Amino acid sequence: MIYLNGKFMPIEEAFVPVLDRGFIFGDGIYEVIPVYSRKPFRLAEHLMRLQHSLDGIRLKNPFSNEEWRNLLEQVIINNDGEDQYIYLHITRGVAKRDHAFPANVPPTIFIMSNPLLQPSEELLKSGASAVTANDNRWIRCDVKAISLLPNVLLRQLAVDVQALETILIRNGFLTEGSASNIFIVKDKILLAPPKSNLMLPGITYDVVLELAAANQIPHEIREIHEIEIRIADEILLTSSTKEIMPITLLDNKPVGDGKPGEFFRRLHALYQEYKATHMRGHTTDRLTS
Ligand code: PDD
Repeated sequence: MIYLNGKFMPIEEAFVPVLDRGFIFGDGIYEVIPVYSRKPFRLAEHLMRLQHSLDGIRLKNPFSNEEWRNLLEQVIINNDGEDQYIYLHITRGVAKRDHAFPANVPPTIFIMSNPLLQPSEELLKSGASAVTANDNRWIRCDVKAISLLPNVLLRQLAVDVQALETILIRNGFLTEGSASNIFIVKDKILLAPPKSNLMLPGITYDVVLELAAANQIPHEIREIHEIEIRIADEILLTSSTKEIMPITLLDNKPVGDGKPGEFFRRLHALYQEYKATHMRGHTTDRLTS
């Protein structure tokens, strides 16, 4: 069951008018929130990022955090699977086509949830491949906008050569992936690009850096030059749906020794342990508060 503008219904029955500004202009924002054991992961952080995106497009938040919390609880109850991922989407509503914001138009609010599948054992064991491309998106990549045409085109460059992700480079520096954040490992240090308007502040990115800090894993947040990506010992990809994954082939060349490395193994194990204790176990307050 999906949620659309105040009602739950089967997805086949959910329709949006063609004049919705999401359809006409891509005028909206979204969030993707993983759910483990029927509990949303880092909900406070996702709701904070949602607010940041709404502020970025000057759209009023239709709900308080408490209302979001209750609504998402209903969404989780109404869908199958202990582990799900919620897709939440808000547009500037339905209005006669005009670029200017319409007055007094309610936003369109759409939420669906699907089973969250773990990346395959095979992929975690052998790693995934990626290609690089010039980051030609707008310069508000910190806003999780539904207008994803550049991301779609960039991601397709990977799909065209049977790779998983496209790693983006702007002015010679790593920004992120087309739908993920990217870390590298060099000389036994985990390196992460600093948050800025040129990348989405990933919730998984934050978790990985917190795990590194809590477990004395050497790490540094700094600009990463394109050349450093090409000579990295490891490349790691993070996102809400893929968690943490090793990239072992970049532009058809092996990354390091071409196998998932020790930083990946360590951080992946810590991530799983973190989920097990905070989401599957008894203490959930840090993650769901
Ligand atoms: N994408 N950067 C981009 C451009 C993304 O689209 C995403 C996530 C991330 C990772 O953010 P997080 O760790 O909060 O998921 C970084 C989601 C999963 C998507 O669009 O489906």
